[in-house]
Amino acid sequence: MKVIETIAEMKKVRRELQGDFGFVPTMGYLHDGHLDLARRAKAENPIVVASIFVNPTQFGPKEDLAGYPRDIPHDLKMLESVKTDFVFIPSAAEMYPPSYNTWVIVEKVTERLEGATRPGHFKGVATVVAKLFNIVQPTRSYFGQKDAQQVVVIKKMVADLNMNLEVVVCPTVREEDGLAMSSRNTYLKPDERKAAAVLYQSLKLAERLYTEGERNAETIRRKMRELIQKQPLANIDYISIADNETLEELNIVKPPALVSLVVKIGKPRLLDNIVLT
Ligand code: PAF
Repeated sequence: MKVIETIAEMKKVRRELQGDFGFVPTMGYLHDGHLDLARRAKAENPIVVASIFVNPTQFGPKEDLAGYPRDIPHDLKMLESVKTDFVFIPSAAEMYPPSYNTWVIVEKVTERLEGATRPGHFKGVATVVAKLFNIVQPTRSYFGQKDAQQVVVIKKMVADLNMNLEVVVCPTVREEDGLAMSSRNTYLKPDERKAAAVLYQSLKLAERLYTEGERNAETIRRKMRELIQKQPLANIDYISIADNETLEELNIVKPPALVSLVVKIGKPRLLDNIVLT
């Protein structure tokens, strides 16, 4: 496994190597969910590149960029264990020099859900992902379904800008009690960690109600809300049942529908979702 720290070197490697590149963009502090993406990339491409870049432009002014967890030596060990070929770790100074002026704005699907709570977040995500795609020129790029809106935004950007790659979406990897793996879970204290299982429980409830024939979205949202409110450490930010492509809220559940929620437990805002098909 080779570590690459400059854009010029990453481009040179891409120019010199023929064949499919699988790409796994990350912000580091890797967990089994990331490894799952890298494993899938390795199974489907002869060469796999992962990137580690804590992208400053996707953090809001009140969000803790400096405090974002980082552990590059551990990340490198993990990526090596799944036979990643290259790890691209660019500097913020090179990605965003003082003269930097170009942004990718995906309209509409970025205005709801996380976009409504975190203005500018998806502008930062779309911009950095477009830059990384241009530098790495992957054949396929791998993202986790856990960040459902990010997946919708990136797919839209790739389609609208005619980018020449395939976006592969991988199922959310979960802990034994169903909690979706996330770097944010490290912020949870032991009692909060236990309480966090309520997110997945509420999604399973939504799935059960849907399977039993419930199609009224508000009824499902209400029952999810009631379940979560029984957990005193949980503070609901939002519960959404939306069209999985436009992200418009639904009155009547029509598949594929994205059931997503954000619940604050202690310090972190925890995200999770399932798709009703
Ligand atoms: O999902 C993430 O870790 C980030 O949003 C991404 C896609 C690496 C862009 O910074």
